[in-house]
Amino acid sequence: MEHIDHLKVFETKIEQDINIEAKDWMPDDYRKHLIRQISQHAHSEVIGMQPEGNWITRAPSLRAKKILLAKIQDEGGHGLYLYSAAETLGIGRDELIQQLHDGKAKYSNIFNYPSLTWADIGAIGWLVDGAAIVNQVSLQRTSYGPYSRAMVRICKEESFHQRQGYEIMAKMMAGTAAQREMAQDAMNRWWWPALMMFGPHDTDSPHTGNAVKWKIKRQSNDTLRQKFIDKTVQQAEVIGLTIPDPDLKWNEEKKSYDHGEINWNEFREVINGNGPCNRQRMSNHIKAHEEGEWVRKAASAYSNKQKLRVSQ
Ligand code: 3HC
Repeated sequence: MEHIDHLKVFETKIEQDINIEAKDWMPDDYRKHLIRQISQHAHSEVIGMQPEGNWITRAPSLRAKKILLAKIQDEGGHGLYLYSAAETLGIGRDELIQQLHDGKAKYSNIFNYPSLTWADIGAIGWLVDGAAIVNQVSLQRTSYGPYSRAMVRICKEESFHQRQGYEIMAKMMAGTAAQREMAQDAMNRWWWPALMMFGPHDTDSPHTGNAVKWKIKRQSNDTLRQKFIDKTVQQAEVIGLTIPDPDLKWNEEKKSYDHGEINWNEFREVINGNGPCNRQRMSNHIKAHEEGEWVRKAASAYSNKQKLRVSQ
């Protein structure tokens, strides 16, 4: 078929909400857009294991340790689903990891902040996974089949992540004055970076135009951010936490909250490698990747042997 015919078939599928599958023809720019977004999503899941991993040995109870271990293992699995979805687009995992190590691929801003106290583990689960849920529920309807199906699987686990974080914050806010202060301090430090997770304003987003045209994004950055704010402010009020935004105010006309301006300079600094923990997160990732070389070699040697045995 001619290019023009392929494009017509592709555009008709997008229009009719028919998933694009790995074997389907797709415009190169659509493929490149997906590789960029899905791989950065995968990198985020794996790097996101670091701030929480710091607290496994310091969890305040065996129950808390078990929950945290389960959550962190989930995140590793999410990374696996997403790297596998990215590989269906014709790029290898080694290349994706190299792009991350070379600074050519990003991961979410949020994981470049330190997890200083146990309340941070609550704030990460409640706010970071809470923001991720809003974004990922919308992504369940993304036009690329493998990505959409990965999102359905991941969303099933995210609500447990958000719930356990909120439970930690609720418990601390019902605790001693010192625990309440610790929880509010974590809220103050994680609130604004969590809003930045949704990306720049729609008017400053170079990718949203195509993302919406190709139904990769079903809702824009600002729409999803607002959804998260409206939902989370009420949750904070229930347990007595204060949102660190003096301009936050209910807008009866809009039926949603007006809020203060996000510090986009901080956002740009952090996503360009100058956040509090960028260097540490990257050196840990590179070190773990290098130390894991023997595991990858053994796994591929075993699978090659299996393939040989089957072919004989
Ligand atoms: N952190 C880092 N970089 C970001 C960012 C963020 N929060 N938001 C935007 N950017 C980058 C974009 O990657 C792009 O840079 P690039 O051209 O080098 O890729 C640039 O800023 C412009 O942003 P756009 O809004 O135009 O880019 P997108 O259309 O890709 O939208 C996004 C950004 C909303 C993050 C979108 O990529 C997306 O929905 N990604 C999937 C979700 C995701 O990656 N979530 C990360 C968190 S995962 C997580 O929280 C796991 C949980 O289990 C803990």
